[in-house]
Amino acid sequence: MKEILLLIFSYLLGSVPTGLLLARACGVNIRETGSGNIGATNVYRSAGRKVGLLTLAGDCLKGVIPVLVARQVGLPEAWVAAIGLAAFLGHVYTVFLGFKGGKGVATALGVFLAAAPVSLLGGVAVFAGVLYQWRYVSAASISAAATIPLFVALATRQPELIVMSLVIALIVIFRHHENIARLRAGTESKFKA
Ligand code: G3P
Repeated sequence: MKEILLLIFSYLLGSVPTGLLLARACGVNIRETGSGNIGATNVYRSAGRKVGLLTLAGDCLKGVIPVLVARQVGLPEAWVAAIGLAAFLGHVYTVFLGFKGGKGVATALGVFLAAAPVSLLGGVAVFAGVLYQWRYVSAASISAAATIPLFVALATRQPELIVMSLVIALIVIFRHHENIARLRAGTESKFKA
C-alpha cells in the first residue's frame, strides 16, 4: 500500500509546474515566451537567472524527494525506480496542465542524484562538455540523456535502474524534437550565462 501511495505522491509532486508558477509570479507567461517550455532553461532565458536557477532547484527536488523517501522506507529497487520514473513522468505529462509539461531534464537530474549519484557524474560531465563546446542547452540535455543509461549500467548494474534510465532517456530525447529541428535548421538559441 505504501508503495502505491508513494507512487501517486511522486507523480503529483512531479506534476507541480515549478517554472510556470515562478515565472508567473514575475509576470511572465512562460508558455508564450522563448521556447514556450516550462523548464529552467526557458525560465532563465525569459525571467532571469535567479528565477531560472530556482526553477532548476525546484524541478530537481521533485525528483530527489520521492526517491529518497522510497529508499528511506526500505522499498525494493524496482519500486525506487518506478517512483523515480513517476516523478519524471509527472513533470513531462503533468495533470495540472492537461498532460502537457516540460522536457524532464531537471527532474531526471534529481531522480538520478538520489537513485544513482555516481552514474550522474558521467551524465553531468557529458552535459557540461557539450554545453561548453557548443553552447546549446538542448544539445547538452540530449547528449546527457543518450549516455546516462550507459553510466547507470556501468556504475549500478541494477536492471531496474537501467530500465528506468532507458525510459527517461527516450522520453527526454523525444521531448526535444522541436529543439532537434531548430538545431538542424541553425535557429536554436545559444545559452547566454
Ligand atoms: O531542459 C530543456 C532544455 O534542454 C531545452 O530548453 O527552453 O531551450 O527548449 P529550451
